[in-house]
This record gives sequence, structure tokens and C-alpha cells, in this order.
Amino acid sequence: MIISGSASQALAAALARELEEPLVTAEYDRFPDGELLAAVPGIDDAVATDDAVTADRAVVVGSTVSSDTHLELLQLQDAAREAGVSDVVTVLPYMGYARQDEAFEPGHPVSARAVARAISSGTDRVLTVTPHEEAVCEFFEPTATAVDAAGRLAEPLPENLADPVFLSPDAGAVELAETVRDTYGEGEIDYFEKVRHSGTEVEISPSDVDVTDRDVVVTDDIIATGSTMSEAVGVLQDRGVDRVFVTCVHPLLASNAVTKLSRAGVEAIYGTDTIERQQSTVSVAPAIAEHL
Ligand code: R5P
Repeated sequence: MIISGSASQALAAALARELEEPLVTAEYDRFPDGELLAAVPGIDDAVATDDAVTADRAVVVGSTVSSDTHLELLQLQDAAREAGVSDVVTVLPYMGYARQDEAFEPGHPVSARAVARAISSGTDRVLTVTPHEEAVCEFFEPTATAVDAAGRLAEPLPENLADPVFLSPDAGAVELAETVRDTYGEGEIDYFEKVRHSGTEVEISPSDVDVTDRDVVVTDDIIATGSTMSEAVGVLQDRGVDRVFVTCVHPLLASNAVTKLSRAGVEAIYGTDTIERQQSTVSVAPAIAEHL
């Protein structure tokens, strides 16, 4: 059976269709004191059914986009265990705190490790989609697999891109840009240099590639505040670019990110449904299903 966290309901439904497995109804409540209660009221019936497949495995799908959704995921894992499901698989379409993968200053925690330990305690296996660094999988106790979904980001792009350039805003994301270019079928590859000054301030240095009158697709793993992308798009506009399309795996699009990108002059923003936003035009369900 597939059990969905509140932030991943469309993706969980798509995954259930893809796998032809039942989607059970989870409920998300809050006690008067603020504590959360995520539950699966029908799970005992589902486990008691004669269908051995339903009883044997629960796939809990939940992007941990907030502290609440993280806690909810732990509760849903535990509800599945409590009902007697033998194999609990946890799918983290987007793993929150994954970018805090080291102690950046003395006294800081390795937050990615802390959340991975908590999630590990309730599951037999973890899948996570395009984590910021694949090494984050090592923080989990059971096997954790990184699912690559970047190839599908080429799907919504127009077919008639003019002499396209596929760029990443920093060297770390150039493989994503390459994957999108390869799936699209043609185009030059390049990347910018990025220096981050704070959570919302980044500096982007242009590369040598000539973007004059060309269409550019900029790809990153995450768009959070939109600072990185809007700076990159600004640099491209200064250099006479034609259209700029922005793609990412995780369209977090926090705060005023969409406004920043619109003001920077992007033609369109495309993301996947690891985070459910208006811009989530591509589903990662088929890529996850391949691993299940
Ligand atoms: C960091 O290196 C990531 O790949 C993204 O570039 C970053 O998370 C984007 O964050 P923001 O949208 O806040 O600039």
C-alpha cells in the first residue's frame, strides 16, 4: 500500500497508479496544544485483507518540507509498523535539511544526519530523489538510494529552442544540466561560478560562453529563495540572451522566489512534483516506481 504525507498527496497518488498498488487514506490532525497526529485509520483493515502484497509492504511517501511534515512522516511510519506491516519503505521525494550535511561552524549540528537517524528508526529502506549531495544517503541506517529524476526536466521545454545553451549556476549542478541537455537532444553546456554570501545573497560570475540571441536553460537541483537563479538570469540578460527557461528538481520556491524570477525575466519555471507547486510540471513517480 501507498501512504502519503500531507505534502506529497499528488505524487503518492501517481505512484499508486504507476505501481497499481492501493492508496490508503491518511489523516492529518492537530491537538489543541499544537501536537500533530498523522494517522491511517483504515490500515488495520488493509493489513487484514487476504492480499499478501498489501499487507507485506507499506510505502510511506512524504517530502519533509517543514518540521511538521518531518514529524508526520515519523508518525506514518510508526502507524504502519503498529498495524503489523512487515516492510516499511520510506520515500523522501524532497529531503529537508539535506543541505546541512556538515557542521559548517564549531557547535553546529550535522542536521542532515540528525533527521536521517530519526527517519531510519522507522523504516527498512529509504529512497530519496536527487539529494543535494548523494553522500547524504550514508547518514541513513538502512539502505538509502538516490533516485535520479533530472532527465525528465527536458519534457516541458519547447521543441524549437534557438541554438540552446544548458547552464548550471554552479559547478556542482553541471551534471544535472548535462542530463537535461542529453534528454533534450542538442545544445552547448556551461556553468557559472557561484559565491554564497548569506542565505539570500549570492554572487554569480559569468562564464565565457556567448549567449547572445540564444535560448538558455538554467538547471539547478533546488530553487529555494530564488537568489541563485535570479542572479544567474540577470547575468544572462546583461549578455543579450534571447529566452531563459529555468528548471529544477525541487521547486521549493520559498518566500518571494517566483517574483524574483519573474522580475529577472524568465520565460518559464519548470520543476518536478517532489514539492507540489504550480510549477511542478514533471512527475518523478515513474523514476521512483523503477526502484520499487
Ligand atoms: C546549492 O548549492 C543548491 O544547489 C541551490 O543552488 C541552492 O539551494 C539554491 O538556493 P537559493 O534559491 O536560495 O539561491
